[in-house]
Amino acid sequence: MINFKTGKIALVVGAVCLSASAFAQTSAVYTVDPTQLKATIQPTMYGIFFEDINMGADGGLYAELVKNRSFEFDNALMGWKVAGDSSAVKVVDRKAERPDNPHYINVTVPSAQGIGLSNEGFRGMGIRKGEGYNFSVIARQAAGSNVTIQLELRDESGKAIGSAVVQPKSAQWKKFNVSLTATAQAAKGSLYITLKGRGNIDLDMISLFPQHTWKNRANGLRADLVQMLADMKPGFIRFPGGCIVEGRYLVNRYQWKKTIGDVDKRETIINRWNTEFKHRSTPDYFQSFGLGFMEYFMLAEDIGAEPLPILNCGMACQFNSGELVPVDQIDPYVQDALDLIEFANGDASTKWGKLRISLGHPAKFNLKMLGVGNENWGPNYVERWTLFRDAIKKKYPQVKIVTSTGTDPDGARFDTLNTAFRGLKADILDEHYYRPPQWFRDNAKRYDSYDRNGPKIFAGEYAAHVPGVDDALKKNNLEAALAEAAFMTGLERNADVVNMASYAPLFAHVDAWQWAPDLIWFDNLKHYGTPNYYVQKLYSLNKGTNVVPMLLNGQPIAGQDGIYANATINKNTKELLIKVVNVSGKSHKASLDIKGLSNYQTKAWVTTLTSDKPDVVNSLEQPQFIAPAEGSVNVSGSSLVVDAEPYSFKVIKLKMK
Ligand code: AHR
Repeated sequence: MINFKTGKIALVVGAVCLSASAFAQTSAVYTVDPTQLKATIQPTMYGIFFEDINMGADGGLYAELVKNRSFEFDNALMGWKVAGDSSAVKVVDRKAERPDNPHYINVTVPSAQGIGLSNEGFRGMGIRKGEGYNFSVIARQAAGSNVTIQLELRDESGKAIGSAVVQPKSAQWKKFNVSLTATAQAAKGSLYITLKGRGNIDLDMISLFPQHTWKNRANGLRADLVQMLADMKPGFIRFPGGCIVEGRYLVNRYQWKKTIGDVDKRETIINRWNTEFKHRSTPDYFQSFGLGFMEYFMLAEDIGAEPLPILNCGMACQFNSGELVPVDQIDPYVQDALDLIEFANGDASTKWGKLRISLGHPAKFNLKMLGVGNENWGPNYVERWTLFRDAIKKKYPQVKIVTSTGTDPDGARFDTLNTAFRGLKADILDEHYYRPPQWFRDNAKRYDSYDRNGPKIFAGEYAAHVPGVDDALKKNNLEAALAEAAFMTGLERNADVVNMASYAPLFAHVDAWQWAPDLIWFDNLKHYGTPNYYVQKLYSLNKGTNVVPMLLNGQPIAGQDGIYANATINKNTKELLIKVVNVSGKSHKASLDIKGLSNYQTKAWVTTLTSDKPDVVNSLEQPQFIAPAEGSVNVSGSSLVVDAEPYSFKVIKLKMK
């Protein structure tokens, strides 16, 4: 509830209310001066972090429904079941000829009734009634064979809910396509193929996509999940991670050049999250790279976000093998970075720019920044980073380099890197903090004392971790979201130093996650935003262009009586934007003494995220249990009174007349 009164009257009103709930209310007078423009808030301020963890890409954002479509998992038939004589299905290895796609299956169709093959999808396939699906396969048949493929979409009970026929008649490898429409919905459906006729057939890249993908692109992304990202209007997207960049070993580090072009030529490798956590082992987690660098760049373009690729710096994950590329052999790694910039920004006269154009994207992606290393640390990192820095700055001085400060926001690793990279005049330092909510509440002033002339800060991965029952499922509850919102008042207040921030990780499949908490959860048909998602979205949509002072007794509002607050203005839309976070269980009545309040319209818009308990969460069943509620209030007088409910986050928007 918001009222506009004179400051004095407001306090009296507060006092009156106090009598009703004398033990559960605090009050204060805050001054806001929209005429004093402080830090400029970068358009990149709030962005998103994407990594293929929790089945965020394969089985998630990437809309492919067939798991192990190319028979490249360690167990080549994982995800597939043979109905009939299983000896009729043979996995063929052609590694020498096709190292990028070594396996396919050869099936001997014994008789007219045929042989069946089913694919279970990623914890089932989400199939929607009335939706069109595109099936494709790369196939060839031995001379004299006459095999037909009958396919069915099936629901959980095995009932057919869509069918089609393909006649893959070709002696050479060839792609065959057919479309079908689902007659019913299934949350955990499957694809069933019957090979009929007689003879011998080779099959590879057995694929099924919904026709409705994001922008209805072939090889596309799940439209509902991309929409969640687009709705945030993120300033940037960091991809492809995360630890996945590093690989447990160098051999399974992320190599962007292997993720572009024809999907059947993108080498599938194990996903590092397959085996990372024993308690969340995910043996069927591999990377098809169907969502590769071209798709990431296009996603960034679609949602208006600056692309921020992070590249391997010649070091595998230091929590795992810690494998190192000797410095005298690091050139190919550095070259990958230079080539990536050319791929994104080059014209047709350049090798990599020409390739981008040949892949259907004449416009440049306008890459402005690039990360060298993820959560790397120690002198080996500084040494390799320097080689990258020298080469990149020589050729592309305008490209900013994002630099890791390790795994933690404090401690010896952090201190050493922080000192070293400040000495080396790094552009942007990437700080990570996965900490309990209390840490976020305690650190809202972290950046108040940072060097204003040093490197810019990218709060590259963060999330408040409420301890879980088994320490695995840490909940995305309101307490965590409010702790992040409180901390973010400090990021925003220090926007002259903090130029970018992203929560991590972004996505999690409810049946296949390894890491929690996560911003957006989904199953094969549905999704929901966590309270943390709404905090991120509210900040992103209401960041403004400049910080303006909002003070209590001349000090930033950073935890006094459990309140955290910050004010910005948007010079373009002429709006004053005030964020108030109440992490306490007491309501708080704040009188906002706003300079020049009479210059603003008499209607103020208020968005509130709250619940009466801090432990509440959203879920697939109740996706909006905690969601922002819109309200408005008519302004009169020279002060604004804010009733911040217990456990609440408010964004108050005032428009200039
Ligand atoms: O976000 C999950 C993981 O946390 C990232 O992969 C890594 O960078 C960090 O340790």
